[in-house]
Amino acid sequence: MNQKPKSQSHALHSAPAGAQEAVFCKSGAGPALSVRHLSKRFGDRLAFNDVSFEIGYGEVFGFLGPNGAGKTTTVRTLGTLIAPTSGSAAVAGLPLTPENGLEIRRRIAIMPESPGLFLRLSVVENLACFADLYEVPDPDDRIASSLEAVNLADRAQDTCGALSKGLRQRVALARALLSDPEVLFLDEPTSGLDPVAAKEVHELIVGLRKRGVTIFLTTHRLEEAERLCDRVAILNTTLRTIGRPDELRDQLFARTLVIRTCSPLPDPDRVFRGLTGVSGWSMNGQSEYVVTVSDPVVAAPGVTRALVAAGADVLAIGESYHSLEDVYLELVNEDVKADPRSA
Ligand SMILES: Nc1ncnc2c1ncn2[C@@H]1O[C@H](COP(=O)(O)OP(=O)(O)O)[C@@H](O)[C@H]1O
Ligand SMILES: [Mg+2]
Repeated sequence: MNQKPKSQSHALHSAPAGAQEAVFCKSGAGPALSVRHLSKRFGDRLAFNDVSFEIGYGEVFGFLGPNGAGKTTTVRTLGTLIAPTSGSAAVAGLPLTPENGLEIRRRIAIMPESPGLFLRLSVVENLACFADLYEVPDPDDRIASSLEAVNLADRAQDTCGALSKGLRQRVALARALLSDPEVLFLDEPTSGLDPVAAKEVHELIVGLRKRGVTIFLTTHRLEEAERLCDRVAILNTTLRTIGRPDELRDQLFARTLVIRTCSPLPDPDRVFRGLTGVSGWSMNGQSEYVVTVSDPVVAAPGVTRALVAAGADVLAIGESYHSLEDVYLELVNEDVKADPRSA
């Protein structure tokens, strides 16, 4: 994309903090992204509809959804590459309008799904080309600090075509960092990477977050979002939910204790009924019981005592765990049930 130099430096700058950090804080006063009722339509096709959310500076925000959910189109819209059909947004403190396009592009960077590098050029030659294109001030310094940020300084002279997919992705990340962005959009940054390369990209994202870069991360890797993101939104053309992963779990699923015994309890209802904090129970297999509780910490001691008093041989008792994947599947499957054509 067309990125231009920023007039100000932000947290990623390699120079010592101080005055530059003060600038970072100033521009970070309001939300980094504020999106209100935003929609994008291509002819008859709604790419995303009526999407609203806010992201604070320094936040790592996960944007999850199945293929075709509208994630990339949202990134392209907020990145000023395409105009929304309706709604409004502010990106890095500026209203998303055609007049502000250039200034917004100075403050953000997008790492698209495919790295788009010149494969016959070396890593450093690629970065020099893009630094020139984006009119980055002090290009040598910026190239050096971007390479350092993605741990690629020792591969600077390697030809991009000779690099593994994972390393190319890191070059693409270095390219996105050249303009020292306030808000960094990463569109499926680990798509197609093996687990080791994906982990390396995760570590780089953690490093960027520590430096205060606001990150908008689209992914359909749920464990990635769960590990890296402060908050996540699940998109399936419309925004299905938004919150911290643990909040979403609690909103969607009842809290339960899962109990396994050596042999079936003769009268489980007598054991579980009326215990403090217990609202119900069900059997899950021969000798496994799922007890619905208001708070596992409050209910577990009483449940354990009741089991022991009933003479049960307890193999395990623990809180059931719902992953972000459970949340995602619950919501996306609801959509599929509501509209079988979307499967
Ligand atoms: N340039 C375009 N013209 C027409 N339809 C498009 C265009 N870009 C995306 N779409 C459609 O918008 C929807 C959302 O696509 P996309 O944002 O790429 O989803 P995701 O990134 O979540 O996989 C899809 O139905 C896709 O076919
Ligand atoms: Mg996409």
